Amino acid sequence: MRHLMSPLDFTTEELEKLFDLANDIERHPAKYAHACEGKILATCFYEPSTRTRLSFESAMTRLGGRVIGFSDAASSSASKGESVSDTIRVISCYADICAMRHFKEGAPMVAAEKAGIPVINAGDGGHQHPTQTLTDLLTIRTMKGRLSDFTVGLCGDLKFGRTVHSLINALVRYEGIHFIFISPEELRVPDYITEMLRSKNIPYEEVIRLEDVMPKLDLLYMTRVQRERFFNEEDYIRLKDFYILDRYKMTLAKKDMLVLHPLPRVNEISVEVDNDPRAAYFKQAQYGVYVRMALILTLLEITVE
Ligand code: CP
Repeated sequence: MRHLMSPLDFTTEELEKLFDLANDIERHPAKYAHACEGKILATCFYEPSTRTRLSFESAMTRLGGRVIGFSDAASSSASKGESVSDTIRVISCYADICAMRHFKEGAPMVAAEKAGIPVINAGDGGHQHPTQTLTDLLTIRTMKGRLSDFTVGLCGDLKFGRTVHSLINALVRYEGIHFIFISPEELRVPDYITEMLRSKNIPYEEVIRLEDVMPKLDLLYMTRVQRERFFNEEDYIRLKDFYILDRYKMTLAKKDMLVLHPLPRVNEISVEVDNDPRAAYFKQAQYGVYVRMALILTLLEITVE
């Protein structure tokens, strides 16, 4: 039995197979419409979500399976003090696979140790968000035709942004990646990540002004400053609108640069950018369904001829 806790749980060869499957699902959805008949996905979300939970539910439904779950810790027996370990042992009696989001780093890993079914980390605190990374990689590979040789700008909350941490971990396995980290001083990428990059001789820069680096970027990954990760409301208010990608800044970018964002967005991308052909973030959300369909099939070891 296999779980997904980190994007590194799959080799790059396994990821290629997963992305090929996701692309095939996009082209031939009818072929997969009954693949999970009789199977049940449990979505256990202790933290709010729109995309991750609903794209998992859409994915299982499009595969002909069914979905059970909760979208709020308060409506589950966690509110009575039940542990994640006990909850997953029970969910293992009700479902064939589980996607879990938790506000505590490592909680899905604890669940996986006790589970009788595959567990997918659907985001744990400020740590990892592997299925968002699969979504990001599929979007890049499909729209650019490769996953190597990019200058990648990551902009915004690089300290608490779990999507950023997961994506960096995943991209370091590809050739020719150069990172540019764009953040205010207080939201710099954690030291353990820059130490890892130095140990692998992967080039990176840290800058504060987005405008200065726009012309260099092949991919720009924008992120939200996350109110829920701040201890101090004043700090959040001071930093929340530090970056706003607008039409003017897009004029500085390459003609084929892609703008990605895991969403939700608040103010960090002006809506006037949405119609720019380089804005890929809504397409990215669509790819999230295909890659989660491919992931469910892979973890349940279901093949479709
Ligand atoms: N991208 C993402 O994880 O969005 P949600 O928080 O809405 O699931």
